Amino acid sequence: RRRVAILISGRGSNMASLIEAARAVDFPAEIALVLSNRPDAEGLERAKEAGIATCAIDHKAFPDRESFERALDAALREHDIAFICLAGFMRVLTERFVERWSGRMVNIHPSLLPLYRGTQTHRRALADGVLVHGCTVHFVVPELDAGPIIAQAAVPVVPGDTEESLAARVIVQEHRLYPQALRMICDGTARLEDGRVAFARGWDAGAAL
Ligand code: GAR
Repeated sequence: RRRVAILISGRGSNMASLIEAARAVDFPAEIALVLSNRPDAEGLERAKEAGIATCAIDHKAFPDRESFERALDAALREHDIAFICLAGFMRVLTERFVERWSGRMVNIHPSLLPLYRGTQTHRRALADGVLVHGCTVHFVVPELDAGPIIAQAAVPVVPGDTEESLAARVIVQEHRLYPQALRMICDGTARLEDGRVAFARGWDAGAAL
């Protein structure tokens, strides 16, 4: 089983869904560490309750991104981490850190990328009047929310939707999608190769929807 770290900044509901999925005996990953850049993140408590090792590295305690990331790297090394899942981790990572973890770090984003990179994705989707919205798991590359796509799930936008109702519909899919995508990268179904995702022979993304 591959040792995985989940990086969070807040609530940690995606983290909880990954922890839950990894309980299955046939899951190819073990959640070995939950790391937060915010010591008061709600998710840290949830991880502790689940018996997972946790670590808070407050970015405000460091003079620059590089020194913050050196501390991150030290914690990841200490726990012998093979893969990183960003789950509501709200710090931008430097190119150096991202390159070091290339092909071994994924993120979940609350939109159908490449639409709505960045923040306030649900608000912007509603403002545009799109009828389909969703979430994406992708490999992390230096450009924000621009990495090769591993898995996506779509939801309808319905009349009367608010940011909250739409977010609630999307997060249900996030919780389903992220464990599925983590399984794919840990068992080799999806690999980063020359800047693109290489899927194992026979992988049927349509059937997985
Ligand atoms: C999730 O919706 C995730 O997709 C989003 O933050 C939320 C975290 O919720 N991530 C981003 O916006 C990344 N830019 P959670 O802490 O309950 O998993």
